[in-house]
Formats: sequence, C-alpha cells, structure tokens
Amino acid sequence: MAIERTFSIIKPDATARNLTGKINAMLEAAGLRIVAQKRLHMTRAQAEGFYAVHKARPFFGELCTYMTSGPVVVQVLQGENAIARNREVMGATDPAKAAEGTIRKTYGEGIERNCVHGSDAPETAAEEIGYFFSGIELVG
Ligand code: CMP
Repeated sequence: MAIERTFSIIKPDATARNLTGKINAMLEAAGLRIVAQKRLHMTRAQAEGFYAVHKARPFFGELCTYMTSGPVVVQVLQGENAIARNREVMGATDPAKAAEGTIRKTYGEGIERNCVHGSDAPETAAEEIGYFFSGIELVG
C-alpha cells in the first residue's frame, strides 16, 4: 500500500475542550503523521464552500453555523492507507454508533459535535487539502 495523504479537521467542540493534543496523540498512535496543521476560525463563506457537497441536506445551515462557532484545527495526515486509517480511528459519524477506542466514541458529544472530520476518498482528500493548504505547507 502506497503512502497516502488525507485531510482532517479538529472541530470547534474539541478545540473548546482543549482536546487538540489528545486527538493528535490518537491520530499518531494510529500510524498517521501530521505533515501540516493550522488553527483558524472559518468564515461562513469558507464553511459553506467546504461543505458544499452537503448543501441540499437538511442539516447544512446548522452545520455551517456550528463549524464557524469557534476555532478549528485543519490538518494533513500522511501514512500507509491514511484515508481508511483515519476513518477507522475517527469512528462512525454518530458517536453513539462509533466503536470503543475511537476518537468520536471517546470524545464525541453528538452527530454534529463529533470532534473530527476526515476525507472519505482520494479525490475528496486532494480537494479538501487544496482548499486549506498550499503545496509548500505540506512537509512530509
Ligand atoms: P463530517 O465528516 O464533518 O461531514 C459532514 C458533517 O455533518 C458530519 O461530519 C456531521 O458532523 C454533520 N452532521 C450533522 N447532522 C448530520 C446528520 N444527520 N447526518 C450526517 N451528518 C450530520
């Protein structure tokens, strides 16, 4: 399996509880290397652009309100099979359905306040990384 990159967000519910370090430790323990990372407070336009794929979903407005409610940490994670590996350590979208030991099971508060976002496929990973980072910011 080739080395892959994926995009990750530590969401406002997690930054508010000062969980960035604990979540990063879980990502690293899962074999992922943080090759780029920055903390920012998304504007409404940035959140709407990022989640454009969900525009027609009933939760879109609330999701954008939530994602702009506080700082986030955007990251690029690198490793073998990084996309699947990250999805495994994140756990199911709904923390109530996530497996024991996953980030969302351990720290998630609900389907919206679920601590982390992770890309679901190579195409979305490339798109999402490019949305927040330029090539020179990725240091593998
Ligand atoms: P994320 O991986 O960031 O992608 C879209 C987000 O929408 C998802 O995680 C959830 O946090 C959020 N969301 C809110 N409500 C729902 C819902 N009913 N179904 C799926 N995702 C939801």
